[in-house]
Amino acid sequence: RKRVAVFISGGGSNMLSLADACAAEDFPAEVVAVVSDKATAGGIAKAVARGLKTLVLERKDFAGKAEHEAAILAALDEIQPDIICLAGYMRLISGDFISRYEGRMLNIHPSLLPLFAGLHTHQRAIDAGMKIAGCSVHFVTEGMDEGPIVAQGVVPLLPEDTADTLAARVLTVEHRLYPLALKLLAEGKVRMENGKAVRATESPADVAL
Ligand code: GAR
Repeated sequence: RKRVAVFISGGGSNMLSLADACAAEDFPAEVVAVVSDKATAGGIAKAVARGLKTLVLERKDFAGKAEHEAAILAALDEIQPDIICLAGYMRLISGDFISRYEGRMLNIHPSLLPLFAGLHTHQRAIDAGMKIAGCSVHFVTEGMDEGPIVAQGVVPLLPEDTADTLAARVLTVEHRLYPLALKLLAEGKVRMENGKAVRATESPADVAL
């Protein structure tokens, strides 16, 4: 089973969906650590309650971004993860860090990338008059939310939606999509090649999530 470190900054519901999937004996990955840059992240308490190893490394405890990342990398050297899943980790990771885990780092973003990268995705989708919304799991590269797309999930965007109601609907699909994408990567059924995510043909269609 592939060893997975999950990075969070907040509630950690995606982290839990990954941990739940990994709890199944036939799942090809296991969560070996939950890393947070926020001591107050709700996901940390949830991870502790699950008996998962947690590591809290707050940016403010380090002189700069480089020192913060060096501390995280040093902690990861102990844990030896095969894969890193960013799950609501709200910090841009440097190219140096990413190159250490190239092709082995995933992120989930709550929009149909390449639309609405960055913050306030749901309000921007509403303001654009979109009739569908969704989420994307992508390989992490240096550009924010720009890496090759591994898998996507779709939901309707309803006329009465607010950013909050839309976020909640998208989140339910995130919880199904991220374990699916992690499974693909852990089984070697998706890889990053020439700036694209290449998936094995037998991969399930995302729309049939
Ligand atoms: C999720 O919707 C995730 O897609 C989003 O933050 C939320 C975290 O929720 N990530 C981003 O916006 C990254 N740019 P969670 O902590 O309950 O998983």
